[in-house]
Amino acid sequence: MLFSAIGGLLVVALVVAIVVLSPKAEPVAAPVPTTSKTPTKTPTPTPTPTPTPTPTFDKAALSIDDPASIWLVVDKLRPLNPADYEAPDLTEVNMPYVADYVPYLRAEAAGALEQLLAAFTAESGGRTMSNQSSYRPYSSQERVYAGWVATYGQEGADLTSARPGYSEHQTGLAIDLSADDATCSLEQCFADTVQGTWLAANSWRFGFILRYPNGYTPITGYEFEPWHYRYVGVALATEMHNTGVMTLEEFFGLPAAPDYAD
Ligand code: DAL
Ligand code: ZN
Repeated sequence: MLFSAIGGLLVVALVVAIVVLSPKAEPVAAPVPTTSKTPTKTPTPTPTPTPTPTPTFDKAALSIDDPASIWLVVDKLRPLNPADYEAPDLTEVNMPYVADYVPYLRAEAAGALEQLLAAFTAESGGRTMSNQSSYRPYSSQERVYAGWVATYGQEGADLTSARPGYSEHQTGLAIDLSADDATCSLEQCFADTVQGTWLAANSWRFGFILRYPNGYTPITGYEFEPWHYRYVGVALATEMHNTGVMTLEEFFGLPAAPDYAD
């Protein structure tokens, strides 16, 4: 009896020992569901458009020295060569309204001016403009300049009239325009007329530039002449318009020409 009791105790002790001493099982972590990843697609490369290069304006495309070139730059430091240069292919400009003088320009400039005049009439409700002076040969420029000197003296004349051999008018590429009622003809108030404001904003479309702009006398050598337009071709006139460069001297990197060398 005693033995069986002891045996029973031993069995109980053994079971307790086994339970206490047996290594604890690690908790099994709940399985983490594996998210099935969508395989990353290799993106199809979007073709990069080849950038269109901004065409660089070639400032050397035409001569600025040849008096027959539409890019000629003539100013008080750059006389015509030869001084008595005679412009070729002079053509009468077909103007709807001619107040004083029938204009003659080089053929290319005459054609461009006719387009300009037609556009002005269409865009201004039927208005027209007129010519005050266009092609002037050396001999005419002599007379014109002498007239200015007689009235204003040489210093005054040099601010508004080129000496013979130095005028754009001698190239057949320049014209002095006026309003159809002659308001402010060859006066600075021409800038405020319908014709003057339209020309200042639109002449570039037809290849003409305002050659002696307001405030540029130290560069051009001449007072503001809102009536004097010079044909340089659509390419150059457009480039000057787009870049905001106001004078040929600045555009071509030439010295300012406020005075004659002699
Ligand atoms: N009035 C301009 C400067 C000329 O005589 O050519
Ligand atoms: Zn002029």
